[in-house]
Amino acid sequence: MGQKKLIKFAAIKEYENVLEYPEEMQGKWAAFFEELKKGTVNISLNNLAISPSDPIGVSQGRPLVLELACGRGEYAVGLGRMFPDQNFIGIDLKGNRIWKGASIANKEGLKNIAFVRTQIELTPNYFAKDEVDEIWITFPDPQLRWSKAKKRLTHPKFLRLYQQFLKGGEAKNIVSSSNGSNSNSNSNSNTVSGNSSASGIVHLKTDSPLLYHFTLKVIELYGLNLIYKTENLYAESTIDPRCLIKTYYEGLDIAQSNKIHYIQFNIDKELPIALDEVLKEAIKDIPMDAGELIRMEAEAAREKKEQ
Ligand SMILES: C[S@@+](CC[C@H](N)C(=O)[O-])C[C@H]1O[C@@H](n2cnc3c(N)ncnc32)[C@H](O)[C@@H]1O
Repeated sequence: MGQKKLIKFAAIKEYENVLEYPEEMQGKWAAFFEELKKGTVNISLNNLAISPSDPIGVSQGRPLVLELACGRGEYAVGLGRMFPDQNFIGIDLKGNRIWKGASIANKEGLKNIAFVRTQIELTPNYFAKDEVDEIWITFPDPQLRWSKAKKRLTHPKFLRLYQQFLKGGEAKNIVSSSNGSNSNSNSNSNTVSGNSSASGIVHLKTDSPLLYHFTLKVIELYGLNLIYKTENLYAESTIDPRCLIKTYYEGLDIAQSNKIHYIQFNIDKELPIALDEVLKEAIKDIPMDAGELIRMEAEAAREKKEQ
C-alpha cells in the first residue's frame, strides 16, 4: 500500500468525525452530532443517549441524511454547507477517499458532517428504524454486467436494507393504483408526483443510462412512489440546487455521455422477494449504449490494475 494511503488511514483514526465499523450506534446519531458540535474529544459512543423513533418525519432532532458510496463525500460536505441545521453522514468502504471529505469538514469547522467507513450492506446495523430522513446515492458503480445486477445500490435487495432505517420505510401501499403498481411511473413529465408522503426520500444521481433505466424498472415493478426523474439534469429549466453539487466521479464522465440522470423516489411499499425473479427477466431488455461499453472497458481495466 502506498505511503499516502497509509497516512490518510492513520489520520482518519484520529478524526472525531470519522467512525470505522462503529458498534451499537442505532438511535444515537442525534446525540453523536451534539457531542461533535460541542467539540468533545474521544466521544464515548457507549454513553450516547438513544433518541426516540420519529416515524412521521417531524424530527425530534435535526434531519439525518446519508450519502451512500460517498467516495470523497462531495454531497455530504456540499449539503452540510447548504443546510447547517441538518446532519449528514457519508458512507464508503475506502478510508483514503473518506479522508478527503472529513478533512474538508474539519478544516471548515462543519460539525454537522460525519463519515462512516463500512460496507453499505451493513447499514441496518448502524441506524434505528425511522432514524434517517433521506438517502443520496451518488454515482455508484453501475455494475453493468447483468450477472452483477444484485450489486446495484438500487436493487430491491439494497432497498430492503434502506427500508429498515429510512423514515416511513415500512409504510405499506400509501400511493397505489388498483393493480398495485405505481400509476405515475409511466408519465412523460419529469415531476411524476408532488407527494413524497411522510416517507424518506431516496435520490439517485448517475451518468449511467443503464442504472437509471434499471432503477425506474424497479420503481415501476414494485409500485414505489416516483417523485421526479430526468435523463438530462442540466438541461432542465429549473434544477434543485442540491443537484448542482458535483462529485469527483461526475467530473470524470467515464461514459463520455455528458448527461447526468437523476431520480427521486420513496421506498413506500413492501418489496416482495417473489418479484425479484420477475425483475431479473424484465431487465434483460434494457439496452446498453455506446457510453456504457466505454465504461465497461474502463471498469475491466481498473479491476485488472487493482488485482
Ligand atoms: C464510482 S465511486 C463514486 C464515489 C463518489 N460518490 C463520486 O461520485 O465521486 C463508488 C464508490 O462506492 C464505494 N462502494 C462500492 N461498493 C460499496 C459497498 N458495498 N460499501 C461501501 N462502499 C462501496 C467505493 O468505495 C467507491 O468509493
